Amino acid sequence: MTFLSNLLRLPVRWLAILGGGIADLVALLKLLARAFPGDKAGRQQRLLGVLATTAGQRALFGVLRVFWANLVLRRKLVAAYDNTGTAIVTRDVDVREVLARDADFLVVYELRMRRITAGENFFLGMQDSPAYQRNVSAMRLAARWEDVSAIIRPTVDEHAGTIVAGAEGKLDVPAQLTLPVVADMVARYFGTPVGGDGQPSRDDLIAWTSVMFWYLFIDLGADPDVDRGATEAAAAARDWLDQCIADRKANPTETDDVLSRCLGLQRADILGFDDLAIRNNLIGLIIGAVPTLSRAAVQALDQLLDRPGPLADACAAARADHDSKLAAIVFEALRFNPVNPFIYRRALADTTIAQGTLRARRIPKGTLVLASNLSAMFDPARLDVPERFDSTRPPDDYILWGYGLHTCFGRHINSAVVPALLKPLLAAGTPRRAAGDAGKLDTAGTPFPAHLVVELIPVRVDPGHRAGMAADKP
Ligand code: HEM
Repeated sequence: MTFLSNLLRLPVRWLAILGGGIADLVALLKLLARAFPGDKAGRQQRLLGVLATTAGQRALFGVLRVFWANLVLRRKLVAAYDNTGTAIVTRDVDVREVLARDADFLVVYELRMRRITAGENFFLGMQDSPAYQRNVSAMRLAARWEDVSAIIRPTVDEHAGTIVAGAEGKLDVPAQLTLPVVADMVARYFGTPVGGDGQPSRDDLIAWTSVMFWYLFIDLGADPDVDRGATEAAAAARDWLDQCIADRKANPTETDDVLSRCLGLQRADILGFDDLAIRNNLIGLIIGAVPTLSRAAVQALDQLLDRPGPLADACAAARADHDSKLAAIVFEALRFNPVNPFIYRRALADTTIAQGTLRARRIPKGTLVLASNLSAMFDPARLDVPERFDSTRPPDDYILWGYGLHTCFGRHINSAVVPALLKPLLAAGTPRRAAGDAGKLDTAGTPFPAHLVVELIPVRVDPGHRAGMAADKP
């Protein structure tokens, strides 16, 4: 491509982007108009309700990307963490800039992390520092990439397969499949068992990790009920993990799991493996793992259930054992409703983002910056026709697990487990929503999927879907 051809293409591209912004404005106005009629008192609540939906957020971000790509407000939209105002960053390149500049835009979670551990910070709450690097490195010695294929994936495959085989045509996906499978995998892999005598139940593990995750990352309004629930859950989880460590020391086993390895590294006198450090790191990892893996799988399935073509492709890929194709479809579905719509940071000092562009904005010290990964994944300046479901997009187009220094510690686990949770369900037949409310995603008043009932209709193999699909596995 020459300079001249690029120059000629530029206005066409910008006209398309402007057109997308106008279409999003129309979509947003339509959504808001539906919330407008009715009693005046409840109107604000209804309008905010629209903006809490993914469709509402996508339309709002679409408008912002074109007309106010980096919106800086004096108003504090977040009560949970100290700040002086709010900025909303919507373009892919600027979202990546905020998350890459970890020395200027700091993680804010320390205060609440310390409430969870009753003392120390956890590495997601730390700035880049010797303590951050030591903790991450310590945990990478104990939780290894190769565990995904050796331990985690086989555990998930077997458990999910057994549940679907016994499902008799109907399944409440979060309650009966994704939450139990993830909780049991976490208990097995980390070496922190549940369900036995004197141990918490699997449901306890799910409830504790969910409310602690909610408190740390989602409770931006500082809800006292969430605070109370998380404080109680944290105390119970700390006692349980202390007991797990003490039991394992008293009765060492041959089982290869994260706790065994941590204790081995403790015996070898490696820095960062005293009992308290092990417990605090385990609590942080377990909170990060349980509600998120289930939520990602259910939200991806929810998107697929509305798209017959991609759903049929996903079923065909699952049946053909074509794992990489299945994963690509599942993650493309998740792009339309990712686990988190934005990642937030606080500006350390007055600074500027998108320097040297028309979008450049000064961000005052103390501003809480909402860097929207959802918006970035619909930015037409980065993605080809973002509204189109296209499972052949380059992996770099996605920001599903964060970006920069704090990119998800469990990203290799996510890449394998999220599609694996759905694979037996998709391979067994074509799932469709159960009739009525049962077939709609229900969060039971929490941020996490609690119910979504699907029916399995018998497999009708369409040769067209299998053509050209090479199995990943022999
Ligand atoms: C689909 C499931 C998951 C999603 C969507 C997810 C999402 C994320 C995101 C967006 C971040 C970045 C947060 C930020 O920058 O503020 C993150 C970080 C992190 N996640 Fe995950 N996560 C998932 C699963 C897991 C699992 C399975 C684990 C544990 C094994 C885990 C442990 C962590 C930790 C420890 C960090 C902090 C990393 C650091 O500070 O260097 N996550 N995750």
